[in-house]
Order: sequence, then structure tokens, then C-alpha cells
Amino acid sequence: MRRLSDAAYRIEGQKMFQILARAQELEREGKEIIHFEIGDPDFDTPSNIVDACSDALKNGKTHYTASSGMREFKEIAAEVTEKSRKFKPDLNQILVTPGANVQIFYAIACVANPGEEIIIPDPSFVSYNSIIRFLGCKPVKVPLKEENEFRMSPKDVEKAITDKTRMIIINSPHNPSGAVMSEEELAEIYEIAKKHDVYLLSDEIYARMIYEDSETKFFSPSIFDKCKERVLVVNGFSKSYAMTGWRIGTVMGPENLIEKMGLLLETTTSCVSPFLQLACIEALRGSQEPIAEMMKEFRRRRDFIVEKLNSLPKVHCVEPKGAFYVLLNIKNLGLSSEEFTDLMLEKAGVATCPGVYFGESGEGYVRFCYANSMENIEKGIERIRRIMDQKWESH
Ligand SMILES: Cc1ncc(COP(=O)(O)O)c(C=O)c1O
Repeated sequence: MRRLSDAAYRIEGQKMFQILARAQELEREGKEIIHFEIGDPDFDTPSNIVDACSDALKNGKTHYTASSGMREFKEIAAEVTEKSRKFKPDLNQILVTPGANVQIFYAIACVANPGEEIIIPDPSFVSYNSIIRFLGCKPVKVPLKEENEFRMSPKDVEKAITDKTRMIIINSPHNPSGAVMSEEELAEIYEIAKKHDVYLLSDEIYARMIYEDSETKFFSPSIFDKCKERVLVVNGFSKSYAMTGWRIGTVMGPENLIEKMGLLLETTTSCVSPFLQLACIEALRGSQEPIAEMMKEFRRRRDFIVEKLNSLPKVHCVEPKGAFYVLLNIKNLGLSSEEFTDLMLEKAGVATCPGVYFGESGEGYVRFCYANSMENIEKGIERIRRIMDQKWESH
């Protein structure tokens, strides 16, 4: 076989898709699988959004459009930012992209040279590590601790800074733990980024998915510089609007960086389909009631799955404050996270994701995505309980 580029051998992809593939293979063999492995809401995209898309298609909105995004879409995105984040970005600080994932790629490609360092949480969304390594940069991992409910510690971030650091990536609410950082912690991390003059990429894809209480509130560090100096906000419609398959998002940041990221998009992708952008205008302008309903349901499921998981023997979990993930601590079982995941998929028909996929500090944990019905959550965990009882009854 002919050799590929060095970079090609560094691509890792998103291994949870391999678990999904195996689960689907088992389903084809006739097994009933309960899915907790992929972060995909089980709700349909709200119908007003689907209708707006279909109207746009019927009305001929099927051609190239401005590569950085339609003006009307950026205007409404800026207005929504003013409501949610208390500042109104200029339109040339906004770029419309096919999903949020690629925003991370564009941003790092435009900010860091090979050999330079990007600080990321560990565990974290798998693409951070994969993109950084693909681009020949170095991921510097800040371990998240269960004692700190998996919130990234500003002190640990500061310790990780070197003269090669170009960017700090934060993600609140966090995948895979559901942790939500406090305003004070985020402010401290912003100050660290400012002091060391590095970019701060705030991945806010789960911004609307917070289980608010007296201590848990959404906060974006973008408020400090209005995305004019160093903060980049990664965002998209996948999770909060149940639109993972649509592939659309918006990223906001300093104008000169957004311009270069836009040229990269223009070079590789040309533009995002106009019918998708028109659908997203409706998503932002139309009723937000379906989103509130989904969040109500996710909160019920969060409470239920946490109670259920904590009732299993020898394992436990911290209550997540956002997103739709929970990390189960399996350190007392004497199995690696991949062994646990394989066992439960093959023997219990329950698909989950090993924590180690998200980084070394994720070992000893298994991620459950509770974008599944209460009935399936109950059934899935009872199946896990049965396997655990058989395997560890003599212990
Ligand atoms: C933290 C985080 N950022 C970004 C993404 C990518 O989202 P999108 O589907 O919009 O590309 C995901 C998807 O799982 C995620 O968990």
C-alpha cells in the first residue's frame, strides 16, 4: 500500500461511531440494543424549522450563497447574542459553518503553527485532541477531577501555560461530564488567557442545555471582550434544536480571525446551504417552546438516570448540571472502561461509551448519553444490574 501523509496517520476520528456501528450490527442480528453511546437528541427537529427548510427548497433557495453566511441569518444571530450574552457582535465577527465541529478545526488551523500548544480539558470532546494532533500541534491536557465535579480548575490551566501556548479550550456545559463552570471560574480563566495573551475558545454548543438552580447558571466569558480580542464562541444548532443531522452552526470571534476562518471555509466548503440557513432563521425567530419542553424532559431523565445509576452496586456518578451526559465511576469494578463497555454491549445489549475515548483521565468512567426515553433508561440500567449481579455476586 502506498504511504499516506504523516498527518493522515494522526487522525483518530470519533470512536463512538464505531460503537454505534457495532450496536447496529447486533441489531441486524436481531438483538434489541438500548442506546446511550452517541450525543444525539431523540426528539424530532421542531416542525416550524422543518417547514421553513422545505419552503426554502420549494422556493429555489438551492444555490450558492455568501460564503461567510447570509446577512439575514447573521443579523438574527447577532440579536440573539445580545439577548443571551449581553453584547451585540458586528456581522463580520460571525461565520456560518456546517456544524460546530469544523469551527474547532478552522480556529486551530488559523491560530496555531505545528509544534505550538493548545490547552484542553481531559476528558473532553474527542475532536479537540484529534484536530490538534492532525494539525501537528500539541494538546496539553488539564485533568478534570471528580472531587471538583469535573469543572476545569483555573489554577491547573495556569500551570499548563508555556511560551508555546496559543489557545485554551473550555467547554461548559461539558461533554462528557455535564459539568457547568461557575462565573468566577470562567472569569479567572479569561484573565489567565488575557495575562498570557492567548486565545480562549469557549465551546458553547450546550449553552441552552443547563439545569438551572440557585448555583447553576449559564455564563459566557465572551462578555469580557465581546469576542473582539481573544474569545471565540463555538456554537451550533445540533444539540439544543435537535438538529444533529442538519450540520449547521455559527462561530463568533475577533474579526481578523473570523475572516481567515471564512476563507478556509470558502476554500474547502464554498458556503453553507441557503435552505439550512433559512431554517435556522426560523429556529431563532420562531417559538422557543419546543426547546423548553425538551429541556424539561431532559431534566426528568437526568434526575432519573442519576438515581438509577447510583443504585447500582460498587459504582457511582456525580449529578451533571448541563448537556445530556453523565459519567459513571466504575473504578471499583476492576475493569477498564472499554472492558465494561464491551461487556455491557455484548451481554446486556446496552451501548455506552468508554471514558478513555475522551482522554486518559476518562479511564475509570463510562459515559451515558440519556437522550433516550425513561422506559429505555430504566430497562437499560436494569439489564446492566443483572450482568453486574451475575459477574460480581461472589465478591
Ligand atoms: C463539546 C462539543 N462540541 C462540538 C460538537 C460538535 O457539534 P456539531 O454536531 O454541531 O458539529 C459536539 C458534538 O458532540 C460536542 O459535544
